[in-house]
Amino acid sequence: MTEGIGDKPREQWGTRTGFLLAAIGSAVGLGNIWRFPKEAYDNGGGAFLVPYLIALLTAGIPLLVFEYAVGHRARKSAPRAYRRLWRPFEAVAWWQVAICFVIATYYAVIVAWSIRYIGFSLDKRWGADPEGFFNNEFLHVNESPGIFAAFVPGVLVPLIAVWVITLGVLAIGVKRGIEIANKIFIPLLVVLFLILVVRALFLPGAMEGLNAFFTPDWSRILDGTVWTAAYGQIFFSLSVGFAIMVTYASYLKKKADLTGSAMVAGFANSSFEILAGIGVFATLGFMAAQTSQPISDVVSGGPGLAFVAFPQIISELSSGSALFGVLFFGSLVLAGLTSLISIVQVIVAAVQDRLGIGRVAAVALVGGATGLVSIALFPTRNGLYILDVADHWINQYGILLAALVAVVVAGVLGKLPMLQRHVDGVSSVKMGRVWIFLIGVLTPVMLVFMMFRSLQSELSENYGGGSYPIGYLLTLGWGVAAAALLFGVVMAALPNKKADAEDALVGDGEDAKERVS
Ligand code: ALA
Repeated sequence: MTEGIGDKPREQWGTRTGFLLAAIGSAVGLGNIWRFPKEAYDNGGGAFLVPYLIALLTAGIPLLVFEYAVGHRARKSAPRAYRRLWRPFEAVAWWQVAICFVIATYYAVIVAWSIRYIGFSLDKRWGADPEGFFNNEFLHVNESPGIFAAFVPGVLVPLIAVWVITLGVLAIGVKRGIEIANKIFIPLLVVLFLILVVRALFLPGAMEGLNAFFTPDWSRILDGTVWTAAYGQIFFSLSVGFAIMVTYASYLKKKADLTGSAMVAGFANSSFEILAGIGVFATLGFMAAQTSQPISDVVSGGPGLAFVAFPQIISELSSGSALFGVLFFGSLVLAGLTSLISIVQVIVAAVQDRLGIGRVAAVALVGGATGLVSIALFPTRNGLYILDVADHWINQYGILLAALVAVVVAGVLGKLPMLQRHVDGVSSVKMGRVWIFLIGVLTPVMLVFMMFRSLQSELSENYGGGSYPIGYLLTLGWGVAAAALLFGVVMAALPNKKADAEDALVGDGEDAKERVS
């Protein structure tokens, strides 16, 4: 059932370790280093860890298993894999492909900034005012938000390099490209990051930073925003809801331990994330001690943490400052690249299957198009504004909403018991009915709650607190999120004779083996 009529055999991972490293590489990304500390910080520091761990266990790992199951069962790209469950279900996957497209365009530019900052660390180029340097001298940000603007060559050049590397790896293939890249980048990332964290722990003030990170502020625990942020972080961080795991699992061999792999990937990602929190907060503790301020005053949100607070801290270090900077920004680059590769692979695989073209042609066609949009919009004087708005909407009303629709549709169609039988049939740890409850009931309830909360906040206050004109939020926020959904619906509505013929051959999707077990 795995190959299409007249297709070449599907590519496969070389080893289970290779698949696991790629799954971990996808999960461990900017989200872990650049996003998690900010989310934890904004949402009560230590208190955030409670909803975060609950989100991991009740939704993150179960959703990883769900996506692995969908991809592994069909051994096709996401649209074909969902379609095999129910023909119109393909729309959700194309929606996720569009979401990946949007994310890839801006994700790459953060990797590009990080590449430049490796160099800046050597001579502390930001001088006495890292914030002014980042906004004015480096990004040349326009005074007010717009869309098209003049290019900033200092960002354009590394961004082109990021796209060349990403598309190069993808063009080589699953086993020799993605797998090998992850086998090199992930161990290197772990080594660099561990050295960084150990160094941070020995800085004066580190313990105060850790106290701020770990001491839970229980007054926040009933705050819906904190829970929304925790589930959102888990989805973004684990790379679930983008169809990445559907795609990666489609290259597994028939016999593959899906639940074991989901647990390893889930816990490895969260361990890295908590390690990043420790490193970041130890460093913030040092900064607070140096400037005699409370920790709450030494950090700003968003890129401010990585590109303003960290440079400031690097400047405060009396020895080894260049090395500290290289380790930090080098980690961002490695973590970002491995995730970017996985995000673009979703689009490449979908187009390969849809058009029946080879990998290199698909990479050139859609990888190239994604790169071009990224290059046209983000290394410009407006790049930071577009990134900020697109990131917010595509997370809240893209990833989370698509994940909600996927699990609700699978639940309503009664596909969960069959997926559970598939998973348990091949895996070491059996999920049983608990998984059906988590995916079919708990995760959707949480996701609905999150949608409700974020809509509530959207309606009560404009995103950015008035710094963006309404038309801007409507276009780049709501407009982009709606366009992704519309794209999904249109793609699924188009006739696809080849898929019809193959699906007819396979039947309604339930394997004989799954039926009897
Ligand atoms: N999972 C990736 C990250 O955390 C997308 O950045």
